[in-house]
Amino acid sequence: MTPIEPRPLSEQVVLVTGAGGGFGEGIARHVAAAGARVVVADLRAEQAQRVATDILAEGGRALAVAMDVTRADGWQALVERTLAQWDGIDSLINNAGTTHRNQSMLDVDEATFDRVYATNVKSLYWSAQSVVPVLRRQGRGGAIVNIASTAAARPRPGLTWYAGTKGAAVTITKAMAAELAPDQIRVNAINPVMGETGLFGDFLPGENTPAVRERILATIPLGRFSRPLDIARACAFLVGPESAFITGVAMEVDGGRCI
Ligand SMILES: NC(=O)c1ccc[n+]([C@@H]2O[C@H](COP(=O)([O-])OP(=O)(O)OC[C@H]3O[C@@H](n4cnc5c(N)ncnc54)[C@H](O)[C@@H]3O)[C@@H](O)[C@H]2O)c1
Repeated sequence: MTPIEPRPLSEQVVLVTGAGGGFGEGIARHVAAAGARVVVADLRAEQAQRVATDILAEGGRALAVAMDVTRADGWQALVERTLAQWDGIDSLINNAGTTHRNQSMLDVDEATFDRVYATNVKSLYWSAQSVVPVLRRQGRGGAIVNIASTAAARPRPGLTWYAGTKGAAVTITKAMAAELAPDQIRVNAINPVMGETGLFGDFLPGENTPAVRERILATIPLGRFSRPLDIARACAFLVGPESAFITGVAMEVDGGRCI
């Protein structure tokens, strides 16, 4: 097996799912600013287009693709549109995700459970089915980053089924890293602590009041919520050459929450 050095971001094509808002938007903007060609994939077509248009206006390179990460045809469209525009795929950031409200595990209905597992776990299956064959065919290695959560490492009451999806994401990350290492495809996960994105209200154990926020902040040693740029910097590291020898890790980006 010949080791392959990861390309610098400026030479990479990076797919980012859920890039129409929240962490994904921050990730797409950050890797585009580093020179990567970025595919901004999201269920919300107009939001994906907004982010891609902004990146282009700032002199970056971006392509918006409306797709559903839970569906095979969404992934097929994503891969086809990317390969029609650019010369291959270097990295994939599986960021799209969802949750149930913070509530008793017994109050989460079956449809919600299925939606959360489809979005957070089945998406990883389809992403592998669609993107890994392309990476293998290219023969130049690659990187995959799965956005999991501190909920995988330190589950707390109220988000039981969501935490389960993120635990699955971490184990799948490690298993994929072991299986894909012979292809020089690195697979890592990031565990963010709570950030004020679209999912914030559902994660909170109660109303979004100063008292509830303070309770959460008190559990984060560095004293603030995560920001999209925190997650984006970790992603840039994990897909770029500086992490060439890192695979199969679940990296907390959490201000010390999981200590
Ligand atoms: N915000 C947090 O506190 C936090 C903490 C830990 C982990 N995470 C994880 O970070 C990731 C990003 O979440 P966020 O906080 O930015 O949320 P968000 O809701 O702000 O953004 C999620 C994006 O994913 C898109 N999306 C949802 N379902 C999709 C689907 N089926 N197909 C394609 N796109 C879809 C949405 O349209 C949205 O643009 C998720 O995996 C989430 O579980 C978030």
